[in-house]
Amino acid sequence: MYSQNTLRNTFILIKSLRKPVSNVRGAFISRSFVSVASQKDNDEKGPTGIVLMNLGGPSTLEGVNDFLTRLFLDPDLIPIPFQSHLAPIIAKRRTSKIQEQYDKIGGGSPILSWTEKQGKAMEKLLDEINPKYAPHKSYIAFRYAPPLTEDAIIHMKKDGVKRAVAFTQYPQYSCSTTGSSLNELWRKSEKLDSERSIKWSVIDRWPTHPGLIEAFARHIKTAIKQYPSDVQNKVVLLFSAHSLPMTVVNRGDTYTSEVAATVHRVMERLEFSNPYRLVWQSQVGPQPWMGPQTNEAILGLGKKGHNNLLLAGITGLRRAESLNDDPIFIEAIANIAKDHLLSGKVMSTQLKLRCPKCNKDVCQRARDFFENQII
Ligand code: FES
Repeated sequence: MYSQNTLRNTFILIKSLRKPVSNVRGAFISRSFVSVASQKDNDEKGPTGIVLMNLGGPSTLEGVNDFLTRLFLDPDLIPIPFQSHLAPIIAKRRTSKIQEQYDKIGGGSPILSWTEKQGKAMEKLLDEINPKYAPHKSYIAFRYAPPLTEDAIIHMKKDGVKRAVAFTQYPQYSCSTTGSSLNELWRKSEKLDSERSIKWSVIDRWPTHPGLIEAFARHIKTAIKQYPSDVQNKVVLLFSAHSLPMTVVNRGDTYTSEVAATVHRVMERLEFSNPYRLVWQSQVGPQPWMGPQTNEAILGLGKKGHNNLLLAGITGLRRAESLNDDPIFIEAIANIAKDHLLSGKVMSTQLKLRCPKCNKDVCQRARDFFENQII
C-alpha cells in the first residue's frame, strides 16, 4: 500500500504511445552478410523500398499553414462539413498559434530529421540481417508535411524500386492515422504508378512487438530510478496516448484496444511493479473523446493525494525519454521489416476487416488495392 501523500510527488507521464519503439539487442536477430550473388541479383531489381509512414510535422514556421491545411482537409482524420471550403479557413485561423508553439521548440518539428536518422540506421541493419531483399532503401511518406506520399512514390520510381513495404510508424492501428496513410497511398499509386510497377505489402500495426515493449519498459525503469529509492515502487505510471473522438471509437476502430494491449504488455514486462493508468491527450473541439484526459487525470490523482491540490502543485511530474534513435528501437523496426518481408504476407488479417460501422468506400478500395498485390 502507498499513502496518498506520496502520490503528489510520484507521477510519471509516459507519452506518445503512437510513436515507434524497439527490440532486445541481439535477442531477435542473427546477423549475416549480404552475399555477392544476392546483392547483384537485387541490384538488377532495384532496392527494396521501406516506406516509413507517419503524420509528419512542419520543419519550418513557414510550413505550418500548409501542414494544417492538409490536416484539416483529411476526412479520415477530421470529417468536417464542406471540408474543401472550410479546411483552409480553419487552418489559417490556427496558424499563428501553432507557429508560436513550434517556435518554442526551435522553429519546427524534429520529426523529419528523426525519421531520416531512423530510416538510414534501419536500412543499414536490414542489409545485414535480411540479405535476401538487400539492398534496402528507406523512404518517408508523411501525411501532412513534406516529404508526402507522392514524393515517396516518385522517388522510388526514379530509383527503380519494384518491391516496397508500407511500414506504419504508428505501432497501434487507427483508421484516422495508418488507415488515412494507406488510403492516400492507394490514391497516389493509382495516379502516379498506374502501370503498377511497384508491388506493395503493408506493415499495418505492431502494438505488442517485443522490441516495442522492451524499449518502453527500459525507458520507464530509467525514469523511475530518478525518484528517491523509498518511493520508487509507489510512483504512479500514467500512459498518455493520443485520444480519439468517440464517434471513431464507436465505429469500431481498433486503436484504443491496441493501445491498451501495449500498456498491458509493458506492465507485464515490468512485473506490475507500480500502479498505473492509461490516459488520453490532445482532445480538441466540443465533441466527446476517449478519456480520461491526461490533464484531468493528473489533477484528479493529485487531489486524491492532497485535498484541494492544484495541478501546479504537483512537482514530481516526469516524462520517460522518447525513443528516437535508441539502438533498441532501430533494431526493433529492422526486425519488424525483416520478419514481414520473409513472411510473404501482403497485410495482416486484421487490416482486411473494416470497422463494423464504416461507410467509406475508400476504405474498401484501398484494401482491395493492397490485397490484390502479387509479391
Ligand atoms: Fe475504419 Fe473505414 S473507417 S475501415
